[in-house]
Amino acid sequence: MSTSPNSNQPAFEFASSSLAETARFSAALADSVTPGLVIGLIGNLGAGKTTLVRALAEALEVDPRAVNSPTYVLVHEYSGRIPLFHFDTYRLTDPEQFANLGADEYFEAGGVCLVEWADRVAEYLPADRLDIRLAATSDTERAIAVHATGPVARQVVSRLITRLGRDRRPENPLA
Ligand SMILES: Nc1ncnc2c1ncn2[C@@H]1O[C@H](COP(=O)(O)OP(=O)(O)OP(=O)(O)O)[C@@H](O)[C@H]1O
Ligand SMILES: [Mg+2]
Repeated sequence: MSTSPNSNQPAFEFASSSLAETARFSAALADSVTPGLVIGLIGNLGAGKTTLVRALAEALEVDPRAVNSPTYVLVHEYSGRIPLFHFDTYRLTDPEQFANLGADEYFEAGGVCLVEWADRVAEYLPADRLDIRLAATSDTERAIAVHATGPVARQVVSRLITRLGRDRRPENPLA
């Protein structure tokens, strides 16, 4: 994990070496979010966007079997400790559909919104959000870059960094 004060750089980067590490990241994120937060997920097919949502949902006491890419509907809602609204914009033919389908109402609904392919609908996302870029660095490894675009998201990042540091396993102090 590395941190950077430069706002053009990710707030920090997390190198996930396994599914278990992505789950650890997601659980720390679940403990750091607040109602109303919007999280943009950016990354190629198979980068791990849905995997991250599933692990985050599980940490918020949602049955992980409920979580799949919402292929034929724009949004799935899961009720856990905080309501989760899971968008997948991959199949939208026009980004305006995202706004027309009432995305703003979900942003105001007091849950956490997770938007797969957020780069496709960037103009319709709130100014203050958490962007998470995922990239496969091997079959089992993922680079996860976290970027806060406003003050609320910056507070989430700060809690996330603290939590990830706190639950470092003693047998692996550099993880
Ligand atoms: N360290 C890791 N973190 C996350 N996923 C991993 C990791 N290693 C391997 N994987 C695998 O990568 C795949 C990620 O698929 P996933 O459906 O989450 O991607 P996605 O970004 O949502 O793709 P799509 O754009 O098709 O919806 C899963 O099969 C998962 O098991
Ligand atoms: Mg997906």
